[in-house]
Amino acid sequence: MDPEVFAEVDRFVGETIVAEDEALRGAVEAAEVAGLPSIQVSPPQGKLLQLLVRMIGARRILEFGTLGGYSAILMARALPEDGRLITLEAKPEYAEVARRSIERAGVGDRVEVRVGAALEALPRLEEQGAGPFDLVFIDADKVNTPNYFAWALGHTRAGGLIIADNVVRKGTLGDADDPDEATKAQRRLHEMLAGEPRVSATTIQTVGVKGYDGFLIALVEGA
Ligand code: SAH
Ligand code: DHB
Ligand code: MG
Repeated sequence: MDPEVFAEVDRFVGETIVAEDEALRGAVEAAEVAGLPSIQVSPPQGKLLQLLVRMIGARRILEFGTLGGYSAILMARALPEDGRLITLEAKPEYAEVARRSIERAGVGDRVEVRVGAALEALPRLEEQGAGPFDLVFIDADKVNTPNYFAWALGHTRAGGLIIADNVVRKGTLGDADDPDEATKAQRRLHEMLAGEPRVSATTIQTVGVKGYDGFLIALVEGA
């Protein structure tokens, strides 16, 4: 199959059932102008995040990896008025772009962007008694996805969701001999969840404007 076909389908879906509004297009544009990489979730994937937030009635969300705020804006918009989203971003200049776009999108009062390496931000979140979260979206440095997942597992309520982006990595997820550290981390995550009774999970492969990848969705058990 031609990757252009996959991209064209994403564009059609974007023109019909997951149309972006001006604030979302503005967030993409602002990120482009500031020279951020264009690696935000695709519009159909973003809409799925939004639907999941609504389906579980999430009020507290934690995101690893803000970039220009695109996925944060989408999820924050699906929150109720008193809902809150904390998003962690290593790069101060990305966080600044995100804050401006989040403000322009009208969800500045619901979203807090915290700057710094996510692993270092976690002890402070813990101290502050942040969580339990209803939904955790893991989308930062891929080698740390299993570490973020392990932390999320102890800080997400029963019935909540932990979602990890970019686990399929052009199909290298299926290759036990792939030398890439990011891929090895996703394999380790899957192996870790094989014996983990606290979650029930699946991984869905995706194609589209972002090429061939996929995400893992885990439901926290025990409700
Ligand atoms: N969730 C965003 C995309 C995130 S891209 C969206 O869909 O709109 C991944 C982001 O993670 C980048 O902005 C990168 O700077 C950030 N990142 C990388 N390593 C990180 C770390 N150790 N801690 C926090 N953020 C990190
Ligand atoms: C890439 C894609 C992502 O969705 C992400 O979060 C980080 C990097 C990439 O294609 O490089
Ligand atoms: Mg991603």
